[in-house]
Amino acid sequence: ERTTVAIVGGGPAGLMLSHLLHLAGIATVVLDNREVATIETTHRAGILERDSVRLLVDSGASDRVLTEGHEHQGIAVRFGGASHRIDFQELVGASCWLYPQTEVFIDLHRARTRDGGDLRYGISDTAVHDVAGDGPAVVAFTDADGVPRRLEAEIVVGADGSRSICRDLVPDRRQFFREYPFAWFGILAETPPSAPELIYARSEHGFALVSQRTETVQRLYFQCDPTEDPEAWSEERIWERLQGCLAGDDGFTLHEGPIIQRSVLPFRSFVQTPMRHGRLVLAGDAAHTVPPTGAKGLNLALADVRVLAEQLELALLKDDDGALDAYTDRALARVWKAQHFSYWMTTMLHRVEGSTPFDEQRQLGELATLVGSRAGSTYLAEGYTGWPQQ
Ligand code: DHB
Repeated sequence: ERTTVAIVGGGPAGLMLSHLLHLAGIATVVLDNREVATIETTHRAGILERDSVRLLVDSGASDRVLTEGHEHQGIAVRFGGASHRIDFQELVGASCWLYPQTEVFIDLHRARTRDGGDLRYGISDTAVHDVAGDGPAVVAFTDADGVPRRLEAEIVVGADGSRSICRDLVPDRRQFFREYPFAWFGILAETPPSAPELIYARSEHGFALVSQRTETVQRLYFQCDPTEDPEAWSEERIWERLQGCLAGDDGFTLHEGPIIQRSVLPFRSFVQTPMRHGRLVLAGDAAHTVPPTGAKGLNLALADVRVLAEQLELALLKDDDGALDAYTDRALARVWKAQHFSYWMTTMLHRVEGSTPFDEQRQLGELATLVGSRAGSTYLAEGYTGWPQQ
């Protein structure tokens, strides 16, 4: 079998790239060892930047984001028992949208199916060969019926997530890491929303985030130890912790309800460069991971593939040899801004065991500057809603 672009990884990044290349008349095959039903039910983040929404709508991948997503014109930052609103519209004239990643996946999968896309889910034994030779690259795999297959491609895209097999094929790779001494405990609970917008809270008990899903199901997170076993927590203990993180005498009440899903989320910063080697290019979490604070992961993956689609069009349709090299620099310019933003949101709001009284007072000084200064708030508003495309 042959195709022009073989895309390893059929999550939102791989599917969006396949969709954009289809619009440009470039053939793709999307390969993923997971089942569609598994991806549709794996809970991830829920916030889209303005330009992620534009990309979904303008490319014809989703109009549901506008009808079923919720525009959020700001967030609340909560510390010292009081909430402070950051008004995105007033500060930077932009909004973000609450629209869960699972819905983004469903829309993209539907669009590719509608347009006759070649999608192979439930495959196994994926291996990528010959990315640096003169001949075509090869993706070997066993299809969903157990038949061994060999797919030749001009380009292989590794959009295969944080446990990427493709990233290891870049021989001269440089990796940048940062670990954090905490993680997030995430739950879905059957309750109505507690607030109209998201609340990012810093407290003596650590960080908590009040997010949303539907009128009857809410998404909440709190800071925990990276080795925490989610099953070891009773529902009562979970609510007690969340209530402690959000307590204050300003009348805010956190609604409680049955917890229907729980997990501990991985937490680290990671970048690998270059994002291209021969016929192989990387996109999304395969090349970089951010901690979840600020919900940059999916947005960054979509920004990567928007740029990658443009560079692949130049390389494949206009024979522009330098186009794929330019991809790394274009993508990384945004990646490092998002790395800093995610790191900054994280360190500003979490409690680190063993921090000194100086550290804690400095953190409160930082938060006071954030909410008390237009310059401070504007940086958050601009980063949260997404920097302009470049
Ligand atoms: C959600 C997750 C985040 O990491 C974030 O910063 C905001 C919202 C969410 O899952 O809703």
